[in-house]
Amino acid sequence: MKKEVLSILGSTGSIGNNTVDVVSNNLNKFSVYGLTAKNNINLLLKQSHLVKPKAVAIQNKKKYKVLKKELFGKKIKIFVGDDGILELTNKKVDIVVASIVGLAGLKPTINSISNCSKLCLANKECLVSSGKFFLDTVNKHNCKLLPLDSEHNAIFQLYDYEDPSIIESITLTASGGPFRNYNLNDLKKANLKQALNHPNWKMGKKITIDSATLMNKAFEIIEAYYLFNLDIDKINVVIHPESIIHSMVNFIDGSTAAILSDHDMRIPISYALNWPTRTNNHNVKKIDLIKLKGLSFEKPNEFLKVSLKMAKYVLCKGGSYPLIMNASNEVAVKYFLNNKIKFLDIIKIVEYILKNSKKKKINTLDDVYGADIDARDQTEKYILKNNGTFK
Ligand SMILES: NC(=O)c1ccc[n+]([C@@H]2O[C@H](COP(=O)([O-])OP(=O)(O)OC[C@H]3O[C@@H](n4cnc5c(N)ncnc54)[C@H](OP(=O)(O)O)[C@@H]3O)[C@@H](O)[C@H]2O)c1
Repeated sequence: MKKEVLSILGSTGSIGNNTVDVVSNNLNKFSVYGLTAKNNINLLLKQSHLVKPKAVAIQNKKKYKVLKKELFGKKIKIFVGDDGILELTNKKVDIVVASIVGLAGLKPTINSISNCSKLCLANKECLVSSGKFFLDTVNKHNCKLLPLDSEHNAIFQLYDYEDPSIIESITLTASGGPFRNYNLNDLKKANLKQALNHPNWKMGKKITIDSATLMNKAFEIIEAYYLFNLDIDKINVVIHPESIIHSMVNFIDGSTAAILSDHDMRIPISYALNWPTRTNNHNVKKIDLIKLKGLSFEKPNEFLKVSLKMAKYVLCKGGSYPLIMNASNEVAVKYFLNNKIKFLDIIKIVEYILKNSKKKKINTLDDVYGADIDARDQTEKYILKNNGTFK
């Protein structure tokens, strides 16, 4: 059997490392061309030992010397910097896993589209910031787009972008994050340690904070809107604290289909890598219905659902609005991670920036970066000017 060749962008992150795990257990099916990281050379070296890539890229130029020394004699090409990551994606491969966090992932992911036949997309910021432009590029190059986000992956498993007219609606499930039951007073006092303590999933810091604010679910609404070509009103969210049902499709005939599995990202990753077939996933826990205590569903937290409303607001507004939401959120999360603002400030800041922004067209990569820089500048200025007091 011919092996499929893949590159993993952001291999040292939570998604990337889970992908390396799936691939390393299936080296009879996959071979790795490229791995990329920003700083974490220790993990990059460990992964290189495991899956023997032909090339690696390190974004932080200061790490190059050490990496070069460690990889001496291994016949692994080393690329460096943002340009280096882009260069790595020039190589034609079968599959690219796009799992760099944030807008930093956009350029390498866009570049990959013309150089692979299957794009496994974890980086939700690509679709959020440049949805239509991104999908047009995917379609232009006839690349198959497979969502890795567990919710969209579940929906994709039930409905492969066929005919949207058979869909009444979709229901994205959300764990509710660490603050699911918090009242307003508790939320006002919520600290970084609590926000990083996700009840079900082990993820990178940025997405963990986004889960706590429900911004992650808001971005998933935007992702689903673009991926599945559905009206905004057909995308619902329900809190499902057990994270066993990963999302549901409600068909027009009254049937609802759901995908159930343990909360382990190696399951959607394995599905996407192996699509259109499936393979044994020996290392993951299979669900046992008798042992499951129950599956419960709730409405989103009253004080956090403003994030979900924002998703619908920016989609209605269109143009650069979703991008502005993403950019201002990335900046606000950065400040929260540095203990410079309070938890609820993240939402207040994004709301303020959206209310005070003007719509721009997003038709090219330059449009994306122009609007992104403006939104980030505006957010930084607002945060610094208000010195920790946000209405
Ligand atoms: N984690 C999940 O379960 C999950 C689920 C669904 C969707 N997603 C999405 O998947 C993406 C990755 O999430 P994650 O949780 O895996 O993030 P993460 O653990 O923070 O990993 C991010 C990866 O991107 C690299 N990176 C960071 N900044 C970079 C830059 N400026 N240039 C190049 N590479 C850079 C990191 O390298 P270093 O390690 O060297 O810093 C790391 O390899 C996000 O868009 C997230 O929303 C994640």
